[in-house]
Amino acid sequence: MSDQRAQTPVTPDGRLGEADAHPGFADPDYVRRRNRITDRAEGHRVGDPSPHVDYTEAEHQTWRTVHSALLRAHEGRVCKDVAEARDRAPIPDDHVPQHAEVGDQLRALTGFSFTLAGGIVPNKRFLGSMAGDHFHAVQYVRHPAMPLYTPEPDVIHDVFGHGTHLTSPFLADLYRTVGRAAARVDSDDALDLISRVYWYSLEYGVALEHGQVRAYGAALLSSFGEILRYEQADIRPWDLREITTRPYQVAGYQPVLYSVRSLDHLAEILHDFLDDFDEETGARLGLPPLEERGFMGRPDNAPATPRPRTEGKSVARTARPDYRAGT
Ligand SMILES: [Fe+2]
Repeated sequence: MSDQRAQTPVTPDGRLGEADAHPGFADPDYVRRRNRITDRAEGHRVGDPSPHVDYTEAEHQTWRTVHSALLRAHEGRVCKDVAEARDRAPIPDDHVPQHAEVGDQLRALTGFSFTLAGGIVPNKRFLGSMAGDHFHAVQYVRHPAMPLYTPEPDVIHDVFGHGTHLTSPFLADLYRTVGRAAARVDSDDALDLISRVYWYSLEYGVALEHGQVRAYGAALLSSFGEILRYEQADIRPWDLREITTRPYQVAGYQPVLYSVRSLDHLAEILHDFLDDFDEETGARLGLPPLEERGFMGRPDNAPATPRPRTEGKSVARTARPDYRAGT
């Protein structure tokens, strides 16, 4: 494992200086395989079944390697309730599951299921779909040469990370809360506010537990490298104004994380902000408009993701919660 970690092209401050050379971008055979899978998301309607993918033995092996490494990395670093959800989650450890294999069981537990994503998903669709209990997920698997690191989220991030959350009725309610707020608004400004709050909570959130900072965000849960070092980030108390004005880093590790006092505190925060969220919420709270708080741009040395052809097919935005560095 140490050799694999050494190969991870993430600099000590968590930036992706060498990511252009990552085989997930540079291996033409891998890119072709990835594109064959993502192409099938073209025209996908939210809620339609995801197509079956004939995963290769190498892809199953990658899943096994990452799944095993994540379970070890979680020990002592994950909020107790989230670890319990992970242990209950209908997520196999020995093969890449089809969306339906996990999603059908999630539906029985919390109502949620996966819907197909092929690349960048616009905020309105990505966040708003959560109101109808749909979570966008990709199907491709990270490159086998670097199983513990991927410069863009893959099926392991989406199904393992978010599938863990969506096993918990408590956390599923928070996804739905995000979704209902996003479904009520249409402006880039309002959707961006929700997106930033989502990013620093359900993707990258940490919480105090018995005086210790523990991870609960899905991106941390599914990121082998980042969960080992999240305590080295600048961890600050939850601060809505600061969160809504901080451009987040979509590639590389997060330099700043925000901690809630507990998961109950998280629920209180999200419901307070989102239950009555509308186009005027930002103005009512005195939050700066989008043009003043800036886009959530990638760091200068980070790659544009995703690299393969999906960019031309999707609605691009400067950042999206679903695309991140992972390990
Ligand atoms: Fe995610």
